[in-house]
Amino acid sequence: MSKKIVIGSDHGGFNMKAAFVKALGEWGYEVEDLGPDCLDSCDYPIYAAKVAEMVQDGVTGILVCGTGQGMAMTANRYSGVRAAVCSNEFHARLARAHNDANIICMGERVTGIGAALDILKIFLETEFEGDRHKRRVDLIDSVKQ
Ligand code: RB5
Repeated sequence: MSKKIVIGSDHGGFNMKAAFVKALGEWGYEVEDLGPDCLDSCDYPIYAAKVAEMVQDGVTGILVCGTGQGMAMTANRYSGVRAAVCSNEFHARLARAHNDANIICMGERVTGIGAALDILKIFLETEFEGDRHKRRVDLIDSVKQ
């Protein structure tokens, strides 16, 4: 995966975002924080859209809100974006290995920060397995309505 990471949240994910930005720097990633920059109430689709647009250019994305769900729903409207809500390590490993997810979505109100950091690390370090999974991911992109 790309060593360049873009990250965004809403107020519900703000503290987890801050913890992720700090850890990512320590792990050697280049991180761009697309906001917000304070805990004031805000609307998650705005930040999901900012991150998804940059992920379309090939970087890896992280989105955090209260649950991760609204972020994923928004980001997955963007073509080529595969945003996965991950609340455990198995989710994170398979979202990468089988689904080639390029955005991880997490919920600050769902997962503790310590566990979330482990989940994030697995997501970033797991390679896509390709092969039959590539065929299936290509089929996702072929779905039109
Ligand atoms: C904000 O209250 C909350 O709805 C948001 O953080 C997120 O959980 C939405 O999916």
